[in-house]
Amino acid sequence: MENVLAQHITKTPGVCGGKACIAGHRIRVLDIVVWHEKRGCTPGELVEMFPGITLADVHAALAYYFDNRAEIEADSRHETVTADTVRARFTPKLQTTVLHYDFIAPARIVFGWGRRTEIGALGRQFGRRALVFCGLPDAQAAAVLPKMADALHAEHVDVIEAGAIDHEPEAADVDEAAAGLRELGAGPGDFLLALGGGAAIDLAKAVAAMAVAGEDDRVADYLEGVGRGLKLQRDPLPLLAVPTTAATGAEATYNAVISNYDPPWKKSLRDPRLMARAALVDPELCVSVPPPVTAAGGMDAITQLIESFISRKAQPIPQALCLQGLRLAVPAIVEAVEDGASRPAREHMSHAALLSGMALANSGLGMAHGVAPALGTHCRVPHGVACALMLPVALRTNREARRDELARLAHVLFGVRFQQSPEEAVDRLIEEIERLCERVGVPRRLSEVGVQPDQIPAIARDSFGNSMRGNPVELSEPKVVELLRGLL
Ligand SMILES: [Fe+2]
Repeated sequence: MENVLAQHITKTPGVCGGKACIAGHRIRVLDIVVWHEKRGCTPGELVEMFPGITLADVHAALAYYFDNRAEIEADSRHETVTADTVRARFTPKLQTTVLHYDFIAPARIVFGWGRRTEIGALGRQFGRRALVFCGLPDAQAAAVLPKMADALHAEHVDVIEAGAIDHEPEAADVDEAAAGLRELGAGPGDFLLALGGGAAIDLAKAVAAMAVAGEDDRVADYLEGVGRGLKLQRDPLPLLAVPTTAATGAEATYNAVISNYDPPWKKSLRDPRLMARAALVDPELCVSVPPPVTAAGGMDAITQLIESFISRKAQPIPQALCLQGLRLAVPAIVEAVEDGASRPAREHMSHAALLSGMALANSGLGMAHGVAPALGTHCRVPHGVACALMLPVALRTNREARRDELARLAHVLFGVRFQQSPEEAVDRLIEEIERLCERVGVPRRLSEVGVQPDQIPAIARDSFGNSMRGNPVELSEPKVVELLRGLL
């Protein structure tokens, strides 16, 4: 043991004041111990934090500490930290190498169990009339809306139930609701309150824009890839988003996904001004969400976090958010499905979904989200289910291009030891994600959700929207056909 430690630990006069340190570095054993024992850093994270040291160095430092605890703790009373050590500690290695980015998020996030009671004071900041769009069937929204309306009335805000939706919004839904708002004379002093899942929030975003657009304009004219390619001229009405599911993160994105079935397409209305002015996230609103919806929505959020983390457009702030979101969501989704009333599980899932929205809004997504809309429009596969189906395929497809990032996820999420090769770590990550899908009960094969073999070419053809452009590996249409056939 002595010889092994000697390769890694030295006590050289003049280096670290002669204290025990990592051989060849000015990093003391004490530093490793403090960051590991007291601040919870894993050995892998310590390697990233202190550039140049190896996992073997970290393990040797910890072993040395346990054998020489008294001496090392005595050292801490005479602590000297060099500039190199400080720089090494606080310059974490980022996956992205170029720090040049924009970051767009809701101006205000109000997060917490039971905080829906604060809607009155929050809403008053945005106007004197709340135009409400609800999700249906949404027992929680139906139960809480009267109380939220009372809270708004108490702040002298009028409440008008302007619309409700029980499916992913279609272009006709947006145009009809926008016409309704124009009849109500919607304008300055009004704001939209979206209470529901991603469908209600995306509908409200699109209506907020279209209600103040030209009277003859149709939302399809403003969508990516269809219509006339118009840009929004007027600022949309302010939006206050109150999600009742933990899924799409629509409360923190600036696109509204709009569907059409004849002809089939699913496209986004996208403009930074569509971002909610405030997101009021009360995880308690999710307790009545049934297990299958919790599972599919949660897998949507997890897919968004993973795809943003490895996206071709990955950015540093979203990557940090992705790591935290995944750390919370991966264990919490199982508990949320099995015990819907679990406060920690619902809190973690709502927070992770919120982070996933911020991440995807700024970093884009990948092939799972490229294919999911086409599965929705051609085969009516719910978005979250489609994401869960495609996630393992997306991981396998991108494993070579994003080996290190995926190995890091394996370590962070599933405790894969860094002694294992990156390839082994990625194998384990994919296995664990598949096991997670099985545990929460989402479908695993396309045939389970009614996809027919003859539909696959059209699904593949319609999979190359904005999300696919974030995929690390460039895919051809024949390749997507092959991947989908393998998943039947
Ligand atoms: Fe999604």
